Amino acid sequence: MTDYEWEPDGYLEQMQAELPGYEELQDTVAAAIPVGKRFLELGTGTGETALRVLARMPGAAWVGIDASEAMLAQARERLPASVELRVTRLQDPLPEGSFDAVVSALAVHHLDGLEKRELFARVATAAPVFVLGDVVVPEQPEDAVIEIDGVYDTPSSVPEQLDWLREAGFRAEARLIRPDLAVFVARRYEPPHRPPPAHAPSAARVDEPPAIRDEVAKDTSPVRRYRRFRGRRDHGPALEGGGSRGLGPKSPVRKGQTPAALTTKSVAKPRRIPSNISHVTTTVWP
Ligand SMILES: C[S@@+](CC[C@H](N)C(=O)[O-])C[C@H]1O[C@@H](n2cnc3c(N)ncnc32)[C@H](O)[C@@H]1O
Repeated sequence: MTDYEWEPDGYLEQMQAELPGYEELQDTVAAAIPVGKRFLELGTGTGETALRVLARMPGAAWVGIDASEAMLAQARERLPASVELRVTRLQDPLPEGSFDAVVSALAVHHLDGLEKRELFARVATAAPVFVLGDVVVPEQPEDAVIEIDGVYDTPSSVPEQLDWLREAGFRAEARLIRPDLAVFVARRYEPPHRPPPAHAPSAARVDEPPAIRDEVAKDTSPVRRYRRFRGRRDHGPALEGGGSRGLGPKSPVRKGQTPAALTTKSVAKPRRIPSNISHVTTTVWP
């Protein structure tokens, strides 16, 4: 299934002899994987990385894919029976389901740039963490020690791969084992969860004095908007619990009085408006 016949017998010895930093790369990749329950490995080979990680997390479920049947046959003999190994190309759809992390050592550099970029996007939909140890194009060409053929081995540079990882939705960093060998640790970027305020319109209440309304509209920082808003308000009636909350001067609510149609939320938390809520006009009036 591969363009290249992998020979599993003697593979490890060959790697150790020909790829300076191989053991350190494996250890760094294994150590970077967060504790989890289900993992996907891309290019499992004879199972070197899986062995290391499963020694740390013996109960974890592991799915490994590789294009070489021969390499996977050897991995099958070395790994626990629970490990699921599939003969699949990295260019093909990834196994279904979600994973705690996707991991790969020394396999992705067999894809060309476009394929890597496209793979990173698919990985981002499968797991929140991606740990990738691989051969890279060094910054200085004279630092290239690991032999590559330029046909089956098509490494990319660190900056290129960081860009593709970011583009896929990861925050990523790279650690160089050697100038031409790196470990990328990528964590999916999750924007802070910011539920929209229940009733807040996007601009200030229309019954604010124009000067304040205009200032609020100009100011884009939610925190500053709220503070400024509070600081300047001295004409509104106080709500139960104290504090002026951006209720307009025509507010029918006075201290000690709660209108039936006023939403529970606005009465229950009159002063503690979270700083991530843009401003305080959350009250719905009848
Ligand atoms: C250098 S070995 C690395 C094996 C193992 N990850 C390790 O660290 O020892 C590269 C592996 O990538 C696999 N491989 C290469 N190109 C592939 C592709 N397009 N799809 C799936 N596996 C591929 C090969 O079959 C081989 O097992």
